Amino acid sequence: MRFTPRSGAARSLVRRGLVAVSVLALGSTMAVAAATSASAAVACSVTYSTNEWTSGPGNGGFTANLTITNVGDAVDGWTFAFTFPNSGQKVTLPGWSANWSQSGTKVTATNLDWNKSLAPGASTSIGFNGTWSGSNPTPPSFSLNGVTCNGTSSPSPSASPSASPSASPSASPSASPSSSPSPSPSASPSAPPGSHVDNPYAGATGYVNPDWSAKAASEPGGSKVANVSTAVWLDRIAAITSGSAGDNHMGLRDHLDEAVRQDAANGSAPLTVEVVIYNLPNRDCSALASNGELLIAENGLNRYKTEYIDPIAAIMADPKYKNLRIVSIVEIDSLPNLITNLNVAKCSEAKSTGAYVQGVQYALNKLHAISNVYTYVDAGHHGWLGWDTNLGPSADLFAETARGTTAGYASVDGFITNTANYSALTEPYYTIDTKVNGTSVRQSRWVDWNQYVDELSYAQAFRNTLISKGFPSTLGMLIDTSRNGWGGTARPARASTSTDVNTFVDESRIDRRIHAGNWCNQSGAGLGERPKANPAAGLDAYVWIKPPGESDGSSSAIPNDEGKGFDQMCDPTYRGNERNGNNLTGALANAPVSGHWFSSQFQELLRNAYPPLS
Ligand code: GLC
Repeated sequence: MRFTPRSGAARSLVRRGLVAVSVLALGSTMAVAAATSASAAVACSVTYSTNEWTSGPGNGGFTANLTITNVGDAVDGWTFAFTFPNSGQKVTLPGWSANWSQSGTKVTATNLDWNKSLAPGASTSIGFNGTWSGSNPTPPSFSLNGVTCNGTSSPSPSASPSASPSASPSASPSASPSSSPSPSPSASPSAPPGSHVDNPYAGATGYVNPDWSAKAASEPGGSKVANVSTAVWLDRIAAITSGSAGDNHMGLRDHLDEAVRQDAANGSAPLTVEVVIYNLPNRDCSALASNGELLIAENGLNRYKTEYIDPIAAIMADPKYKNLRIVSIVEIDSLPNLITNLNVAKCSEAKSTGAYVQGVQYALNKLHAISNVYTYVDAGHHGWLGWDTNLGPSADLFAETARGTTAGYASVDGFITNTANYSALTEPYYTIDTKVNGTSVRQSRWVDWNQYVDELSYAQAFRNTLISKGFPSTLGMLIDTSRNGWGGTARPARASTSTDVNTFVDESRIDRRIHAGNWCNQSGAGLGERPKANPAAGLDAYVWIKPPGESDGSSSAIPNDEGKGFDQMCDPTYRGNERNGNNLTGALANAPVSGHWFSSQFQELLRNAYPPLS
């Protein structure tokens, strides 16, 4: 199911240089501002981040992304303003997610209809492209409805009637941005349950899927991980409703009811539950193992909307689930296939009809509209999109897709990489900059001119690229670490001393696959990092989306009623194709149909876990 193309070796494309990135959480030392009315205390915090580039001596362009967080009472309609310190700083209209205007150095943004209301604790992300000459300093202060954003809540007017406009917002415009930053919106410790926070994983506990947990626990040694949070896959219409697939699987309501129960048993920490949205028409268009039930040519897009997304959204919007943080993983392997695999008929049909893009947009519109639902869109993995010739066009497609949704960029909370794949999180013994006897590791057969050697560096770089395309700086990445541990006895313990670049890389890499394009039931793999919030810069979490022990595809053809095909990449005797450099597939033998329990794989994943299981 993780189709990986062979790269067209992209050699010397120069990415636009990002010369400066600044993120500012405004200092809490600013004067407390007055409330605007007797009943509503306005209070806000702002992050302002820029990607800046130089076009000539002393001038250039920039993208500014701002997140406004309401830390006061509910706001219904807003005007946001700031003043550029330098008269050479200009907003290029129209900007996004607000009505922008500039007069002199003063910049004003008013709400659009969809982001007019900001509940307590809620954020909205807005932004613009601009130009600068001289320099491009960060504005020293921001205001919302005339009240300076200082990151703290104003005293309620009734409690302190003396909080008067004399505590003027202009009292300390010079409060330096670097002085005692206010809590960043991502921390949101006091966000009321159910409000949309920046990182749904922060401070939360993960849902344990009882279906998966029981299978894991029934394996020898499996109880060591049976309580790890894994995702719920809605891989066909029948998966939404319990029992409707002719088995006794839990439907979406059963999972969310159980999540409410786990949440209640869990003290005050919120609960995150992950649901994989995976049923586009022509699904998995470039491979066969995870083909789905819907076809574009058979009204699949309409059926996807009405029989799949609509019922899912209706269930998620049920008020009884409002305190859950529902993370939706949106359509893995879909948009990336439109970048690299248009030579496959089912992919080019997905592109020419617009079905993938429209399906993803429909899903984002419905899911983003539910305030406690978070959306993470699939962004492939480094061995697929890690060449600049793939990464840039993918980021453009993601940006274009998001811009076509009702809420624009705000409909996407983040992106996920490595879903159900095996790429190492980090290669400890070499980086993309390592040279062997003067030769870059990029020239080795394994790296094959890729710009990345592992998922963490790829995910972080992808995030920066996405932000430079217009996504807000609140964008958070997830990495599926369920099966990329690569521990066990074959794991190298140090860098190779070879002076031959191929030998060096092959002896140093922890990823033991035969080729980075191999994706099915990989021999030698182990469980990876356990799920964890805020594990690295730009990352919302490491997650276990692919439930370990569930097959990627059958190693020989097995009849089934799920639409699953037989993909030779799952056959250990297949000698490969141009997409994996005509190598063996490295797949385990005797594998069942994708999604079905594969006991011997699960046991190998336990044995090769890294970090090892204690
Ligand atoms: C594959 C299967 C799907 C299953 C998922 C998780 O994508 O096609 O049916 O739910 O893996 O194991």
